[in-house]
Amino acid sequence: MIIKLTSGKEIPVEMHKVGIVQKTNLIPIEQRLKAIEEGGYNTFSLRTKDIFLDMLTDSGTNAMSDNQLAAMLVSDDAYAGSESYYKLADAVKEVLKFNFLIPVHQGRAAEHLLAKVFIKPGDVVPMNYHFTTTKAHFELAGATVLEIYTNEALNTRSSFPFKGNLDVDKFKDVIKKYGKEKISFVRMEATTNLIGGQPFSLKNLREVKQVAEVNGIPLVFDVSLLSENAYFINKREEGYENKSIQEIIWELMSLSDIFYLSGRKSTCVRGGFIATNNKKYFEILKNWLPVYEGFLTYGGMSTKEIEAMAVGLREMTDINVAGSAAELVKYFVEQLDQRNIPVVTPPGGLACHIDAKLFLPHLPQSEYPAGALSAAIYIASGVRCMERGTISMDRDKDGNEIFADIELARLAIPRRVFSVSQIDYVVDRLVWLFEQRNIIQGLKFIEEPRVLRFFFGKLETLNNWGRNLANEFKKNFSENF
Ligand code: F0G
Repeated sequence: MIIKLTSGKEIPVEMHKVGIVQKTNLIPIEQRLKAIEEGGYNTFSLRTKDIFLDMLTDSGTNAMSDNQLAAMLVSDDAYAGSESYYKLADAVKEVLKFNFLIPVHQGRAAEHLLAKVFIKPGDVVPMNYHFTTTKAHFELAGATVLEIYTNEALNTRSSFPFKGNLDVDKFKDVIKKYGKEKISFVRMEATTNLIGGQPFSLKNLREVKQVAEVNGIPLVFDVSLLSENAYFINKREEGYENKSIQEIIWELMSLSDIFYLSGRKSTCVRGGFIATNNKKYFEILKNWLPVYEGFLTYGGMSTKEIEAMAVGLREMTDINVAGSAAELVKYFVEQLDQRNIPVVTPPGGLACHIDAKLFLPHLPQSEYPAGALSAAIYIASGVRCMERGTISMDRDKDGNEIFADIELARLAIPRRVFSVSQIDYVVDRLVWLFEQRNIIQGLKFIEEPRVLRFFFGKLETLNNWGRNLANEFKKNFSENF
């Protein structure tokens, strides 16, 4: 909850107490340099023992509640007919009002199944913005992804509250241009990840639904970050300030034909599912489930996670849970913004994002500014973040680079994990890094996978700048931390 102090300063106050803790470690600068060099300047290659604050992602790394952990103890490991499945199905009916549930092992497995069932080669899939795994699956199935965002979406220094909106006029143009038969479905992603965790409004969703419905195009929701989008609607959309998160979720769901999510985010477990009220869709998807994921009543998930997911789904409708990451992100973004560090505004839902093109204006996109900045942040602070820029785009089929629309270093805030003092530490090191920004140069690939290259790619620095940055650090921070 955001609390105003007597000084007038607002701080995010945690609405939980800490029961179990995990020790973390801040290794000295020389060891950090060694770790990132051995990891090919890719933060995915780092090991936990070398990381102080892990802000790579909020996926599967949220703190679980006592009730979620307790639920795991009573799971039913039947291969078929597991009672854990029926408990989750009840929670899905209650919280989302969907009658049919298809569990999968994580979000991208849902994307794989949806691509398999709905996409024909040559189709197009319009969406507010892509996510990496979404684009990979849809393109592998033969579709072209069309991003039809509004003008504000890519403006990183904006005050527009709903940068995740889909441009409805462009959607109508797409239907005219390609014909509705070629459109597998329209996909709306909540708290749109790659543009900085930015929400869409209910007003926009209603308009999208209206156009989709008239044309017989299914509306598919990727709501991996569902509770955050509902939280922002409560905080930012006129007419919703007195609606509960649950009421907003019900309204959102009433507009969706097919729902899927990575349960690793909003529900604080490791899993995912698809849900719908359309029996025909359910039957087709269900029949493919045992081929790729497992029997319907576990779908590749551990039944322990299914139990915890049922609890997590209900818990995320509590505004203090729904806002737990968003409020810390807001604090983080505001602290950096006040110090003129180029962060994505307005603050989004899953992370504090730094605009690497503005932070490192001397680097061309071909030298991967977001990748360089992410590695530099680790060297300077021991904090691990994620590149969300051109390295996260794969080359086209002729081997040409596809430059990302925006180059972001993403410092993710898993739910209920980090404290305000830890954020203050990161802010301090980012301010220092900004002062040293001219030391940071580009990166180049030395090993480059063809698909989703950001996971396993290895890079090296141009002009050995990692060493120069570490040397400067030692001059400024005598303790070597
Ligand atoms: N859709 C969105 C919007 C996501 O953010 C993610 C994952 C997925 C789908 C895929 O789900 O990982 O369970 O297979 N996002 C993670 C991230 C990986 O770090 O943002 P998954």
